[in-house]
Amino acid sequence: PVPASVGFPGIGFESVPANTRAANVAQGGVATSVIDRITVPAGYSAQVFVAWGDPIMPGGTAFAGDARETAAQQLKQFGMHNDGMHFFPFTGANGLPSSDRGVLCVNNEYTHEEVLFPDGQVGTGYSIAKTRKSQAAHGVSVLEARRVNGKWSVVKNSPYGRRITANTKARVSGPAAGHPLMRSKEFTITDGASVPTGRMLDGFTAYGTINNCAHGITPWGTYLTCEENWNGNFGSTTAVDTSATTEIGKLNRRYGVSAAGFGYRWHETDPRFDVNTNPNEPHLFGWVVEIDPFNPTAAPVKRTGLGRFKHESAQYVVDADNNVAFYMGDDERNEYIYKFVCAGKFNPTNKAANRDLLDSGTLYVARFDSDLNGQWLALTPDTLGVDGKALRDNPNFAGASDAEVQAKILIKTRMAADAVGATMMDRPEWTGARPRINGFQEVEVYCTLTNNNRRGTNTASANAADGSTAAASARPPVDAANPRADNVYGHIIRWREAGRTVRATRFNWDLFAQAGDTQTTKSNAANYVGNIVDTPNGSADYGAPDGLWFDPFGRLWVQTDQIGDGSGDFAHIGGNMMVCCDPNTGETRRFLTGPNKCEVTGVTMTPDGKTMFVGVQHPGEDSTAANPTQFSNWPQNQWTVEADGVTPLPAGRPRSSVVVITKDDGGVIGS
Ligand code: FEO
Ligand code: CA
Ligand code: CA
Ligand code: CA
Repeated sequence: PVPASVGFPGIGFESVPANTRAANVAQGGVATSVIDRITVPAGYSAQVFVAWGDPIMPGGTAFAGDARETAAQQLKQFGMHNDGMHFFPFTGANGLPSSDRGVLCVNNEYTHEEVLFPDGQVGTGYSIAKTRKSQAAHGVSVLEARRVNGKWSVVKNSPYGRRITANTKARVSGPAAGHPLMRSKEFTITDGASVPTGRMLDGFTAYGTINNCAHGITPWGTYLTCEENWNGNFGSTTAVDTSATTEIGKLNRRYGVSAAGFGYRWHETDPRFDVNTNPNEPHLFGWVVEIDPFNPTAAPVKRTGLGRFKHESAQYVVDADNNVAFYMGDDERNEYIYKFVCAGKFNPTNKAANRDLLDSGTLYVARFDSDLNGQWLALTPDTLGVDGKALRDNPNFAGASDAEVQAKILIKTRMAADAVGATMMDRPEWTGARPRINGFQEVEVYCTLTNNNRRGTNTASANAADGSTAAASARPPVDAANPRADNVYGHIIRWREAGRTVRATRFNWDLFAQAGDTQTTKSNAANYVGNIVDTPNGSADYGAPDGLWFDPFGRLWVQTDQIGDGSGDFAHIGGNMMVCCDPNTGETRRFLTGPNKCEVTGVTMTPDGKTMFVGVQHPGEDSTAANPTQFSNWPQNQWTVEADGVTPLPAGRPRSSVVVITKDDGGVIGS
């Protein structure tokens, strides 16, 4: 254990109350909703900074309010359902990173078609125009953020403003680039229907990035966007091969590619996303994609070395010898935790020397043993599977050379991790690395395990909301690292690398916290109550940890993703939230609660720590086109203007947004 004084500056605010239905009733609201606004502690101020549909580049039009925008207009506006993000500071006049001006890169994970179109997904009929707008609302929004006279605003005509969407041309690099499985059909992409050219792409070219959930950054100053539930955007009007005997069928099974997808209808008008027309197209998704925030014309690069799965975040660590690794979760029930160790070392004095560090290295998957030790298992041709055979001798990865075997291991990362006996986890979401400051020297990494209803012997119905299909074994027994059957509230695991180096193949681990409800009335309360360290008891209960981030001062921030309306298992915990934790003692306080049926996801700060940006995703989720404000009318019910004090917030429909938070005394957030 680390002494309580090491590496942590303390928490200086008191918890805000849980945002429950009872709290909403007490203030005169309905009993079917939590309070439809965000709340931050006394001494803090919050304002909406940018919302879905706001213009972020030259030619952008103001959000209309009723979602009448065309695809072309959406292409110059902030995308929908924002998730992970990072503030990249400009260099100030004093030569130091600015805390008044930066490029904010924000993921736009997915779209809710009932809110995206005035008449919903069907309405007057589904069309290529709807497909193009939906594709334009996905991806990444890059915008310039500036503070003038204390007020933050989006620089609406900034040359740094950029949208990366489902149709943006990208480069594919690393060991899997160019493999035949990576060569898909070429289409001419216009505002109208995609037209096949009759040629195949080269396997080094891809179009678009989708389902960009959490993110990462690199120590050389680039942004990483991580493709999570990309399988849901594909579909077909005819049956999809999911046989256990063909190569494509096995891939489709293991990654959940199906005819119905998650209900998107892109494939009906854009044959690029029809998996029968274009069976290799899914292989171009499921990657970590590198973006240069300060070069709006640079193509995004899909870095295949980091493996193909449903990526959540990619957290880097540079150790004392400048070795660099990225830690990553695969968010689906009973999937795995990975790390990629770069072959080359980070060069802190020459940015260009780091440009292709992500293309050479070793991908590992984690095995958590019951004695609190763990092993990183290399996903390479030499590695022995649990069947005693090297991966090169496993028919799933067979190739003419070890280079081809490695390419197949990366395209089929999940199958390689199955083969080597990694530990199936309770939905790995974000990873976060504790900063090595103020005497703290370990390489210590945390990962949220958000929940799992396919663990142990419970009989809860499948979690259709995340689109999961069964992993290698549908319902593994509980284990030391995933100790709860029917893990409703989730937990946070952490590990320390042996020898304080990211190149270690051994680590030790423990559970940082098991989330839960201290007021649970379930019969098997011990399974649900959790062990959150909060004072007074229960004052910071939370469930379904998802976002997780260490700020540079050593505070651990955790964000949640559950139903968000205070119903069922969350009657006491209430809506989604962000808490702050002491990594030494586990002490936890509740910093922010979100509006009804939202997820709180995405957090970043200016370098001085005095401005925090927090993402609020899908307020009022599940509303319909006929009644878009049925569950939430946020953010315009909380503020009439954006943080700039000028831009009005049009009424009409709830909007995913980034909120800017400052401390009224001008201090560091959390202090
Ligand atoms: Fe998009 Fe795993 O959350
Ligand atoms: Ca997430
Ligand atoms: Ca989640
Ligand atoms: Ca969400």
